[in-house]
Amino acid sequence: EAAEKGGYPHFVIKEINEQPDALRRALLGRIHNGQLNLSEMEHMQKAGLLENIQRIIVVACGTSFHAGLIAKYVIERWARIPVETITAAEFRYCDPIVGPETLCIAVTQSGETADTLVGIRQAREHGAPVIAVTNVVSSAITRLADAVLYLQAGPEIGVVATKTFVSSVSALYLLGLYLGQQRGHLTAEQISTYTQALDMLPEQIQRILDQASSANDSIEPLAKKMSQLSSIMFIGRGVGYPTALEGALKLKEISYIHAEGFPAGELKHGSIALLDNLTPLVAIATQSHVYEKVVSNMQEVRARDAHIIAVATEGDEGIKEHADDIMYVPATLEELSPLLASVPLQLFAYHVAVARGCNVDQPRNLAKSVTVE
Ligand code: G6P
Repeated sequence: EAAEKGGYPHFVIKEINEQPDALRRALLGRIHNGQLNLSEMEHMQKAGLLENIQRIIVVACGTSFHAGLIAKYVIERWARIPVETITAAEFRYCDPIVGPETLCIAVTQSGETADTLVGIRQAREHGAPVIAVTNVVSSAITRLADAVLYLQAGPEIGVVATKTFVSSVSALYLLGLYLGQQRGHLTAEQISTYTQALDMLPEQIQRILDQASSANDSIEPLAKKMSQLSSIMFIGRGVGYPTALEGALKLKEISYIHAEGFPAGELKHGSIALLDNLTPLVAIATQSHVYEKVVSNMQEVRARDAHIIAVATEGDEGIKEHADDIMYVPATLEELSPLLASVPLQLFAYHVAVARGCNVDQPRNLAKSVTVE
């Protein structure tokens, strides 16, 4: 087992460090000279299954659900198709209104999550075309799909999803760009801008990881400092919101610290009551069209004496006025920012859990793949 961990103390940290390679593989062959090459979609295109799509439902659980929430923001922006992202166990029992005009996207790294399979089977019975995003070749979901986007992330042993999250999100980006192009909402120039920015992400994630394993790392000391607290809140807006949800999920899954993610603007409508000087707040404050709004939400919280940790874009000196600790990530396009902002949050969760002596590879009560409804 030590050999399988490749010199790392745990699978989770090995897999966090594999993310640049996982991402390269997810993009491999699908971007060429600034153009998209999503050959997996050819069959659906030729069969006319995409022509009459009026809306999209993304069905997923856990971390894959968060990838699906990011997809909602970007597909709506790029393709101007309304998208609903719903947890599979809810979708299944809400008598969903689906038919041939509703594209269903199943996101499931294992391809075997029972709730997702049952929900998608039901959607198929109503005639909905299905695209599966999965890591496992020939998994059950692939048999229910008209097209499959494989992550090519390699096996993920740690129970919590890390590299498969990054790969799922990138596959959904490619799909979003494809739909945007197909609908005529994105020009070739815009596609080229996005694909170039996507191509830079593996190297940018590597920079975050290199910094974190250097003597100047600030994430592990911060995690140690926070490891005895009982609750931590996460906020974000736009694509920063699902990033906050995923940051909170990673922390609670492996460290057992209570963690919740909120849309930053919603905090003042209730959850702000939870904040005090023993409940820190992690704010996703990377550059975006809602950056100023996030900063004003941070100010509201600071007035309540809460310790603020910001995830911010390199070069943003102004954020120092509003946060006690900062995790910097490289600059990218707003839509792609979750792939960078998630990495320090994964490292933070990992180091908190290690400091608390938790079993990070196999957290209590969790299974890698839940094959019962
Ligand atoms: C389990 C795992 C989660 C995962 C979820 C969905 O609950 O513990 O980490 O996100 O299943 O898994 P899937 O394979 O469908 O992406």
